[in-house]
Amino acid sequence: PGGTLMGEYVIAIDQGTTSTRAMVFDHGGGIVSTGQLEHRQILPRAGWVEHDPIEIWRNTGEVIGQALGKASITRHDIAAIGITNQRETAVVWDRSTGLPVYNAIVWQDTRTQPIVDRLSADGGPGRFAETTGLPLNTYFSGTKLAWILEHVEGARARAEAGELLFGTIDTWLLWNLTGGVSGGVHATDVTNASRTLFMDLETLQWDDEILAAFDVPRAMLPDIRSSSEVYGTAAPSSLLRETPIAGILGDQQAATFGQAAFDAGESKNTYGTGNFLIVNTGEEIVRSDNGLLTTVGYRLGDGPAHYALEGSIAVTGSLVQWVRDNLGLISTAAEIEEIAKTADDNGGAYFVPAFSGLYAPYWRPDARGALVGLTRFVHKGHLARAVLESTAFQTREVLDAVIADTGTPPTELKVDGGMTANDTLLQFQADILGIPVVRPVVAETTALGAAYAAGLATGVWSDLDELRANWKEDRRWEPDIDQAERDRLMRQWRKAVTKTFDWVD
Ligand code: G3P
Repeated sequence: PGGTLMGEYVIAIDQGTTSTRAMVFDHGGGIVSTGQLEHRQILPRAGWVEHDPIEIWRNTGEVIGQALGKASITRHDIAAIGITNQRETAVVWDRSTGLPVYNAIVWQDTRTQPIVDRLSADGGPGRFAETTGLPLNTYFSGTKLAWILEHVEGARARAEAGELLFGTIDTWLLWNLTGGVSGGVHATDVTNASRTLFMDLETLQWDDEILAAFDVPRAMLPDIRSSSEVYGTAAPSSLLRETPIAGILGDQQAATFGQAAFDAGESKNTYGTGNFLIVNTGEEIVRSDNGLLTTVGYRLGDGPAHYALEGSIAVTGSLVQWVRDNLGLISTAAEIEEIAKTADDNGGAYFVPAFSGLYAPYWRPDARGALVGLTRFVHKGHLARAVLESTAFQTREVLDAVIADTGTPPTELKVDGGMTANDTLLQFQADILGIPVVRPVVAETTALGAAYAAGLATGVWSDLDELRANWKEDRRWEPDIDQAERDRLMRQWRKAVTKTFDWVD
């Protein structure tokens, strides 16, 4: 009463592929507290990956409670909420009950290949690339929405009657946080919208011709807003009631923002479930000739959109999880490094984890994983190294594509994400790139970026310079092999990649 003081912290909800986190940040960009919960990976058939949207929404509430509890703070200490999310995962729900009509179809899911093939038959996979910056591929959320309309009984009729809403996970969380059936805000930000295959990169609006080609009713799509503005406030039922939700960025764009890569030419590489290397191209839309995506980097309020080139790699950290969960060869992800350290090199073995086909720079849906170069000499340590090295090789290939597209070789690579705790991997990364790899003190740049976007819109931070000043180097890895060896390894890797092609009939 009588004017409450604005909270000094910002909370970010980071809804990722395997877990949901809430992180409280202070003004210096330091982590105050974290809440985290994993959710179920639902794998009904080969190539299908689903999440339960209700479980994700419930977990979101719980991790917010954990984060506030650990810091012993309440909503009064929080100035704003930022949302960041796994980007291309699609949810369709009933606007009057709030219930999803189907599980969320996850970005890695490849069931939409027949839809992709059908649409590519007229104009090839590049059919919508000029407008959207993306090739036609199962990766993007629009194909998943089309699948739900085609396969879930009654969905199309209900969508046409205006009963159903579509959203990526940011939209699902925003709608629920702001009250759901009682007045939830149905919106997304430009970065998430740029991953649907439906948004025109220039107008930043849904493209009617593309919607017609996918047969998607426009009324079920969210409004496209900027990445930093007040979308609404948390509903009375929320622990954070009355707190403005003021930032939304897809997780990879959020990591770029959290790395303070605000200007053209700046870049970052995030090591998560997959790897995503993003290079800011400023206000210019740069089209790739080398298998990269063109995407929106961020847009602050009414300011201009900033664009980016992205090299998306589907499987990196999730390969380590697969070794843990599907093979049971290790019991924690960290063990892979201990085993890898028992070998000096890969012993000739190469592991190409083409589990969802190959994304950048190849875009080969027909590829499937392969382990090649085996001899009797190869032992467990070599295989563990091959697992880690596959992340570094794939990164080198997308960086080569960036260099080919932009003509500018970077002098170093900023890295973040869970796998950057792995020293063996980052040393090999520097070795295979031939440039230093640099990790900031706060390696949780995804959550940080969403917090920054929310804090900028609510006056917690006044400008980008203030955020730049928060970026501090923690550690750097220098390349330590010669060029001939680097070239030999890359030659072998590329040969291994070709072995995965044409696997799917
Ligand atoms: O494009 C997929 C990406 O947004 C998923 O990121 O961090 O959940 O693996 P992550």
